[in-house]
Amino acid sequence: MPQRSYSSAVEEIKSRCNIVDIISPVVPLKRSGSNWAGCCPFHKEKTPSFMVSESRQTFHCFGCGAGGDAITFTMRYYNLEFPEAVEKLAAQYGIQIDTEFARQGKRREPYYDVNTKAARFFFKELIKPGCPGYAYISGRGISDETIKTFGLGFADGEWGSMTEALLRQGVDRELMKELGLCKVSARDGKRLYDKYRDRVMFPIINTQGKIIGFGGRIIKDEEPKYLNSDESVIFRKKDNLYGLNLSRTEIQKEGYAVLVEGYMDVISLYQSGVRNVAASLGTALTDEQAKLLARYTKKVVLCYDADAAGIKAALRGIDVLRNAGVEVRVLHVDDGKDPDEYVKKHGRDAFLDLIERKAMPDVDYRFSLIARKYDVSDTQGSVRFFKAAVDVLRTLPPVEADIYIKKLSTQYGVSEGAIRSELERNPKGAGRSPAYAQAAAPPQAPAQADQSAEQPSSSGDGRRDASRSSDSELYLEMTVIRLILLRAEYYAKSREHPELFISDEGLGIKNAFESQYVEGSEFDPAKIREALDEGELAYLDRIMKRVLPPEDDARAFADCVSRAGEKARAARIEEIKDILSMAQGRLSKEDMNALTMELSELSGAKGR
Ligand code: CTP
Ligand code: MN
Repeated sequence: MPQRSYSSAVEEIKSRCNIVDIISPVVPLKRSGSNWAGCCPFHKEKTPSFMVSESRQTFHCFGCGAGGDAITFTMRYYNLEFPEAVEKLAAQYGIQIDTEFARQGKRREPYYDVNTKAARFFFKELIKPGCPGYAYISGRGISDETIKTFGLGFADGEWGSMTEALLRQGVDRELMKELGLCKVSARDGKRLYDKYRDRVMFPIINTQGKIIGFGGRIIKDEEPKYLNSDESVIFRKKDNLYGLNLSRTEIQKEGYAVLVEGYMDVISLYQSGVRNVAASLGTALTDEQAKLLARYTKKVVLCYDADAAGIKAALRGIDVLRNAGVEVRVLHVDDGKDPDEYVKKHGRDAFLDLIERKAMPDVDYRFSLIARKYDVSDTQGSVRFFKAAVDVLRTLPPVEADIYIKKLSTQYGVSEGAIRSELERNPKGAGRSPAYAQAAAPPQAPAQADQSAEQPSSSGDGRRDASRSSDSELYLEMTVIRLILLRAEYYAKSREHPELFISDEGLGIKNAFESQYVEGSEFDPAKIREALDEGELAYLDRIMKRVLPPEDDARAFADCVSRAGEKARAARIEEIKDILSMAQGRLSKEDMNALTMELSELSGAKGR
């Protein structure tokens, strides 16, 4: 393999791997202030003089003088040559050594260079007198100083301003195309035109200070609101956090990071004086982003928008950050739709005060969402609450689970013993699937659809996360959705059987059907797709790929209905048994009778 191919892998390794993760499996390390200490593997010693700095990603031995970075360590410890060490680390981190990239002999520098030229062009446009982009951005309260700090710019409404300016500067058109700064005209297949028009431009800068891409905010009332760089040799959205280039030292100093959704959230917070901030850029937080952030801090306040999408993204963010060893608190601002609006209105001190008072530890946050969903003053509701809460407890390490068992018990007045026995009774993954608990809850089940976004994806409060479930678990739902796309009449029929839809994504698709259903006509697949979010679309694609349209669709549909009904019934039986066993002494006589009666009716139905 040509040597050259390693340069990109080396950069990738440096930005993604954590030296502590690499050293600690072979050299036991203990915290020592902001560093880690252990006994040096390169000379004999009894007292630790081998130090690892997580923030600088280096190691140094005060005994023998050995030192370097993750790659140097790997070379010395495993006795490898440089390329071998790179290969080992690349394999460990799932980094593909890009032979294509190597063969073409491409380097990253020329790409950074083009982006820098583009950013300069956009900036100069923004500060021209009378620039509508300047009016827009200063109208949103952004100061001249902040414009400079973030290197903001403007792409005008013409089709060729940037492209022509850069070509005049001798920039290679292929590089511009590859970076997605311009597009090729469909008419003659040759002429280039600007991708960004009428947009305020936000350069996206990595922690090495290189401009790797752009986001552009439309200044008119048009769609899409934001347009981002295409993925390129130097830009992968999922690997980067916006603002981290400016905020990482501040994050280290403060000891935590505020993670927000958008460009404007970062900029407003930063300008107001909250400088330990970065954004995941609207996408669901990725493992790569979490690992990157974890290099600078192990504490994050997730501050996503206060809407349903923001709640959903926060729940996902909690999982991902926890996985990266980060302690998470969650805050939704209580005035305004996002941190940008809040901080503009109330200022830095109020925002910090809000974090202090309202940011909830992730587990409390999940409990609060569940508590909001179930009526805990009612016995059945509180049993459902506990079952969902216990599913959250199951995801925690034992010590933490223990703390929360005590907390739940005092807060909601249920004995610790009851919670513990519930925890043991239904161990993770075993027994019946919690997925059908939701289907098993008529008549409330249909109403729950509205709250789907407020449900933890993995807390087992009933609803499933399709992306994490297997085809066989979702088989009935997938088949039904396929059938409905074949004939809309099945949608009308499915309305009577809410238990057919069991995943968040499935419900999202169902909602799209609901809003577009017209009696007597079929669904327009393109319109349905438009109404779906990213996750729902992925699920629909999966359905179209995996589910073949059945030969006898009427029979297939009837079959799905009866099997889903059977599952729901079995699950309801289990639930009633749970309620009767968990709520001993807390149920009124009437409730008890009603449940016992329902149980015997349901059990009787089995034989029929
Ligand atoms: N986003 C995107 N593409 C879109 C919409 C959003 O990439 N079409 C990303 C952007 O990074 C954006 C973030 O998601 O900053 C949050 O989106 P949203 O809340 O809709 O935007 P705001 O940050 O509130 O933007 P603004 O204040 O400019 O309206
Ligand atoms: Mn927003």
